[in-house]
Amino acid sequence: MPTLTTPADMRAWADKARREGLTIGFVPTMGALHAGHLELIRAATAAADVVVVSIFVNPMQFGQDRDFDGYPRPIEADIALCDSLGVSAVYAPTASTVYPPGFQTRVLPGQLAEGMEGAARAGHFGGVTTVLVKLFSVIAPHLAVFGEKDYQQLAVVRQMVRDFDLGIEVVGFPTVRELDGLAISSRNALLTAPQRAAATCLPNALQAAVDVGNRGADSRVTDILSSAREIIDTEPSAALEYIDVFDAATLTPIETLTPVQRSVGAVRIAAAIRIGAIRLIDNRDLFGH
Ligand code: PAF
Repeated sequence: MPTLTTPADMRAWADKARREGLTIGFVPTMGALHAGHLELIRAATAAADVVVVSIFVNPMQFGQDRDFDGYPRPIEADIALCDSLGVSAVYAPTASTVYPPGFQTRVLPGQLAEGMEGAARAGHFGGVTTVLVKLFSVIAPHLAVFGEKDYQQLAVVRQMVRDFDLGIEVVGFPTVRELDGLAISSRNALLTAPQRAAATCLPNALQAAVDVGNRGADSRVTDILSSAREIIDTEPSAALEYIDVFDAATLTPIETLTPVQRSVGAVRIAAAIRIGAIRLIDNRDLFGH
């Protein structure tokens, strides 16, 4: 399995695959691969002839958020894992290759990027979409697989692919969870044992919200949010950043639930918490569809 580090080498590899009539599946990652990534890679392998995994900790999407420096970077283990999973090629460029001196063009995502993560992390989605345009243009995959754990990212990427006529099928994959419900994330590795135990307040809070939401046709958004907040508030080491109930397609906050929203599963709840310096996010379909 080749590990390619320059746009020219990656493009040549992908061009050759396409000339041979092969479909290319793509899994963009920032490395520190975990069970969630493995499922994305499996999904890409099932849907395409060859699979490219990119490993690049993208400085542009961290902005002022200092967890860029502490982000785990076990590059050799990641490459070995990709090899063992039958990945066809890894693309692992350096930051100065992706953003050489003089680089100045950025993607500006729209309304979908404004709330939740976009509000909490200024410039985050501009960084995500900019690097993805670069990765997509070098690899030109037929399909790209993203985890639903980053639900807003998935929505922003789908919109960008539509808006820019990129002709890439964007596949969303359900969140992979630990046995106690914590969504699997590269950041979990940074938690101490007590912090890891405290982190379960996030999936527990979302579960409480789902339970209240499904209690009856008159469940109210305020009660749904309070039930979730209560669980996070009782965990002393967790600080809630935001929690929102929102329309699954437009991502606009919902204050009153309609019967249609309840029955077609068009509503999600998402939250972000901090435990010490570690930021964790999660989301659920509120009505379990
Ligand atoms: O979800 C991620 O890991 C990153 O945001 C992505 C899509 C690889 C872009 O850097």
